[in-house]
Amino acid sequence: MLTSPKPLKDVFYCPEESNFYSHCLENLVLNQCDSPKVIVEFGSGDGSPVINSLMRTRFNGTIHGYELNTLAGKIAESNIQEYELTDRYIIHNSSFFDAALPRAEYLISNPPYLPSIDDNIYQPLLHGGRDGSEMARKLLSMGYENLLLMLSSYSNPEGLINYAIAKGYSVASFLVSPLTFGYYSSEPKVRNMIEELRKNRMAFYSGNIYLLAGVVFKKQSESKTDLSAELIQIMTSL
Ligand SMILES: C[S@@+](CC[C@H](N)C(=O)[O-])C[C@H]1O[C@@H](n2cnc3c(N)ncnc32)[C@H](O)[C@@H]1O
Repeated sequence: MLTSPKPLKDVFYCPEESNFYSHCLENLVLNQCDSPKVIVEFGSGDGSPVINSLMRTRFNGTIHGYELNTLAGKIAESNIQEYELTDRYIIHNSSFFDAALPRAEYLISNPPYLPSIDDNIYQPLLHGGRDGSEMARKLLSMGYENLLLMLSSYSNPEGLINYAIAKGYSVASFLVSPLTFGYYSSEPKVRNMIEELRKNRMAFYSGNIYLLAGVVFKKQSESKTDLSAELIQIMTSL
C-alpha cells in the first residue's frame, strides 16, 4: 500500500484518515454495481487514497482530482505515474472552485474540516471554517447528484447533515470509524475551537477519540433509503 511520509506542514499526511477514505471510496462507490464512469475529487492530497482504491478495484472509469497545494499535486502526479494509472487518475493543480469541471456522476472528497476562527493554522488549506463544515457545505451546494464526503464528529455533524437534507439530499449509505486526534486537530488553536463547539453540541468526541464517517449523499429522487437519522445518532453519540 502506498504511504509516503512528508513534511506534515507542507502536505496533508494522516495515513489512518486517508486509508479510511480509501476504504469508503472502494466499498461505497467503486465496488457498487452502478459505479460511475466519471468522478471528480475535491482535494486529492498526495493521491494515495484514490491510487490505493484503484489498485484494489476493477473500476475502469476516470477520476479527475483537483488539488490546490502545488507540492501535494506534484507528489500525486509522480505517484500516479509510478503506479501506471495516468489514464484513470488525472490531477489538476487548481482550486476545485475555479476549475472548468468535466461532467461527472459523482463528487468525492475528504474535505478540509478543521474548525478555527481563521486559517492561520499549521496548514491553512485544511481550514473548514468556524465550525469545520463550511467546505463540505460548499460542495453540497454545487448540485451533484451523488457525493461521497468524509464527515467529522467534531465539525458540526448534525448541522451539516441537516444542511444536506435542506439541499435535497438523503443519506444512502455510510461507514464510520473511530480516529484519534492527530497532528492537525491537536494544534491548540484548533483544539480550543473544538472544545468551544462541544459546549454548543456541535462537536462530539471522547478523550482523544472522535468519529469519522464516509457518507454517500444522493439527491432524493435517486435514493430509496434515507439513513440520515441513524447517521446523526451515531455522529453525536460520543
Ligand atoms: C483533508 S485533505 C485530504 C487529502 C487526501 N484526499 C487524503 O484524504 O489524504 C484536504 C485537501 O484539500 C486540499 N484543498 C483545500 N482547498 C482546496 C481547493 N479549493 N481546491 C482543491 N483542493 C483544495 C488541501 O490542500 C488538502 O490536500
